[in-house]
Formats: sequence, C-alpha cells, structure tokens
Amino acid sequence: MSDNIKITKPTGKLGVLMPGLGAVATTFISGVSAIKKGIAHPYGSLTQMGTIRLGKRTDKRVPMIKDFVELAGLNDLVFGGWDIFTDNVYTAALKAGVLNKELLDKVKDDIESITPWKAVFDQNYVKKLTGENVKKAETKYDYAQMLIEDIQKFKKEYNLDRMVMIWCASTEIFMKPDPVHETIESFEKAMKENHPAIAPSMIYAYASIASGVPFANGAPNLTVDIPAMIEFAREREVPIGGKDFKTGQTLMKTIIAPGLKARLIGLNGWFSTNILGNRDGEVLDDPESFKTKEESKLGVLHYILQPDVYPDLYKNLYHKVRINYYPPRGDNKEGWDNIDIFGWLGYSMQIKIDFLCRDSILAAPIVLDLALFLDLAQRAGMKGIQEWLSFYFKSPMCAPELYPEHDLFIQLMKLKNTLRYIKGEDLITHLGLEYYD
Ligand SMILES: NC(=O)c1ccc[n+]([C@@H]2O[C@H](COP(=O)([O-])OP(=O)(O)OC[C@H]3O[C@@H](n4cnc5c(N)ncnc54)[C@H](O)[C@@H]3O)[C@@H](O)[C@H]2O)c1
Repeated sequence: MSDNIKITKPTGKLGVLMPGLGAVATTFISGVSAIKKGIAHPYGSLTQMGTIRLGKRTDKRVPMIKDFVELAGLNDLVFGGWDIFTDNVYTAALKAGVLNKELLDKVKDDIESITPWKAVFDQNYVKKLTGENVKKAETKYDYAQMLIEDIQKFKKEYNLDRMVMIWCASTEIFMKPDPVHETIESFEKAMKENHPAIAPSMIYAYASIASGVPFANGAPNLTVDIPAMIEFAREREVPIGGKDFKTGQTLMKTIIAPGLKARLIGLNGWFSTNILGNRDGEVLDDPESFKTKEESKLGVLHYILQPDVYPDLYKNLYHKVRINYYPPRGDNKEGWDNIDIFGWLGYSMQIKIDFLCRDSILAAPIVLDLALFLDLAQRAGMKGIQEWLSFYFKSPMCAPELYPEHDLFIQLMKLKNTLRYIKGEDLITHLGLEYYD
C-alpha cells in the first residue's frame, strides 16, 4: 500500500507545551516519566496500547497503532508550561494529590526541573484564582508576543524539532462568540485594544498558531473554537482541536447513551451530580466557570439521542448536571447518575451509576494521545479543525455547517479510519457481505 498522504518522519525532539501545570498536566508528565522507567503502564492510551485492524477480518493484520503510523516516542518528549503558581512539576503533583509520593519520588529527578514560566492571566476570566507568577504587559497583543518568545526560547534551549500545545489550565468564565472573533484582523485589533472578548486562553492559542504549533483545548472555553482562530490555523497550516477532555461522567454518558438509543429505549430523565475537591472543582464552584462546563456537558445527550428524529423516545428528556465542590475528596471525585428509562409498552426502568472516578487518571492519557496525534497531523500536512480527534473531547469542534459527533464508538471508527486513510489502507465499513459471497 502507498500512503495517501506524505508524512514526514518524527525525527528529533517533540516539545509539549502546556498552559496550566495543575493536576492533569502533572499527572501526564509524571506518568510519562514513570512509563519510560518501566515502573508503570500507559493504560488508557490509544497511541501506546491500541491496535488497528487492517484489511479483511480473515487477513489477521492487527498492528499496534504506534507501529502502523509513525508517532513520536515517549523518549522524544520534552515538557514545558506556564502557571500562575511557581511550584515545579514535582511539588505541584504532590499538591494535586493524584499520584502518591512513592511514585512521584521515583520520577522526581525528571520532573523537579520543570518549573512554570510566568503565565498570561486575568482574574476576570477565572474568578476563584490568584497567583503571583504572571506576566505584565500593556496590551493583550504584547502578551501574545511574550508567549511567542517563550515558545521560541523553549525550542532553542532543548533543540526541539517540533512542538504542540495542549491547554491544561483552568476553565474560564462562560463567553459567547463576539464580532471581534470573526476574522484574524478584527481579533488582532481587539488584542491591541484590550477588548474583554479576548480571554487569556485565546492569547495562548493565538501565540501557538502564530508559532506554527498545533493547539488542543482541554477545557470547555471558546479559545480556538471561533472563526478567527480556525481561519488563522488554516492559513498557517496548523492543526487544532477541542474542546474539553472527555473524562468521568461525560465519558460514561457517551458510552451508555448510544447503547440505549441503538435499542430504541426511551429516556425520561438523566440526572448527573458530582462531588470533587480539587482545584478544578474550586474553580467550577464559581457560577460563571460552571456555566462554561455545564454547556459542554449538556450538549452531549442532545446530539447523541437526536430528539427531533426520535420525538417519542427523547423529546421529554429532562437532563440536569450538577458539580459540587467538596474538598475532602480531592481529585477522587464521585459521580452519580440516575437514568430514568422506558421500554416496550412504556414500562419504566432505572439505571443508577456510582462512578468512583479519578479525573486526572482519565485525562492524562488523553493529553499524551492528543500531543502525539496532533504532531502526526502536522507531519501529514493536515490543518485546521481535526474532527477525527473528537474521540477525546466533550464538545468536539467541527465545521460550522455540521453538528458534532458525540457517540464514542463512531468517534473511534472515525479516528481509526483517518489513520487507515492517511496510510492508504482500505477504510473499514463493517459491511462484511464479502465473507458470505
Ligand atoms: N481532570 C479531568 O478529567 C478534566 C476533564 C475535562 C477537562 N478538564 C479541564 O482541564 C483543565 C485542567 O484541569 P486540572 O484538574 O488539571 O485543574 P487544576 O486546577 O489542577 O490545574 C489548572 C492549572 O491552571 C493554572 N492556570 C489557570 N489559569 C491559567 C493561565 N491563564 N495560564 C497558566 N496557568 C493557568 C492554575 O493555576 C492551575 O494550576 C481544567 O480546565 C479542567 O476543567 C479536566
């Protein structure tokens, strides 16, 4: 088979830039170090453990994804990031309380040297946080230039071949698209005028794209999901993706809801509530940040269940999502779902889920996969929105005329077919009639 798309080889080092060195980022960085040392396994990561079927089922060709497409290796990754706190990755990971001290001590030498650069931060956009490690400049455009300098310095210092940026910082307040988000010209003008519609996350995204660095958004903020950034990414030939890592309760929703719909089981209500006590929980305790998260979580069921197409089954669905900040739990959140369903002749049933979840344990492999796949996309000449990476997001970005695909299994098929496509392999449709000819 010949590749459909020419992919340049992943030679040299890949820099992974992260705004926000909190629970998710430090669990990711420490985890990669532990895996490299052979003291832990990359469970949850498709790039490290996933396989892909090629050709017919009878062909028995099922390579590992990492052997099928050339991805950067874990030894090639170099980490850097910004935070409003000065803690290095070892200290921040200890404070985040996700990984135990015993494990962190084993990787301390690797992670202690990673200290955050000064952040671009404005408390108007994350009400619950204050920190000292922040840049000072006149305009939002100046801040972007400072970030671009940080990126260039990082590249030079570690002699990096390529870079990617993954937003792992806090959820910002809810923002609606604004006319200044329409074009890159209006966006740049607004940055120079310190317009309130330009959030810090957008300044990072701008700096990333301007530097030719792929960008993914792990939080539900608008960030790159605006016409100006999408156009800018296409113009600079940079792949982008978002929004909001798909973990925890929403992951469960996108596993269960497609199954119920497949069997035409009706839904009257889906009530989801969580308790969590990490810094993310504290930030989400602010109603304005919570609204950003709520929008991201609520969309999922609507798109999967299609109440317009199946009004008898889903028109009256009452969907509620609550997040409660409860410090004793730290990062080990508990999520309860009560699902009121009905079947044959309208008889009601209930499903209860009690998910004792570790959010950052679910998020860390997503950061790894996104870093490696975004780098692959760039080496394959793919630019703009990478819809094939929807698998990793609660609110997947897609072309304006499309609705987002939320069904985890369709998302996985889309991802694997994209890999088959770029490698010139036949797409798998699961038709299978040929086995019975
Ligand atoms: N953990 C998950 O499963 C999960 C799932 C989906 C989305 N997310 C999102 O990922 C993000 C990170 O989650 P977390 O649990 O690591 O949170 P966290 O609070 O532990 O870490 C976020 C870090 O970002 C820093 N920060 C805030 N604003 C910043 C800025 N402008 N520049 C640089 N740093 C900044 C904070 O100081 C903090 O250290 C959050 O937005 C969260 O909503 C997490």
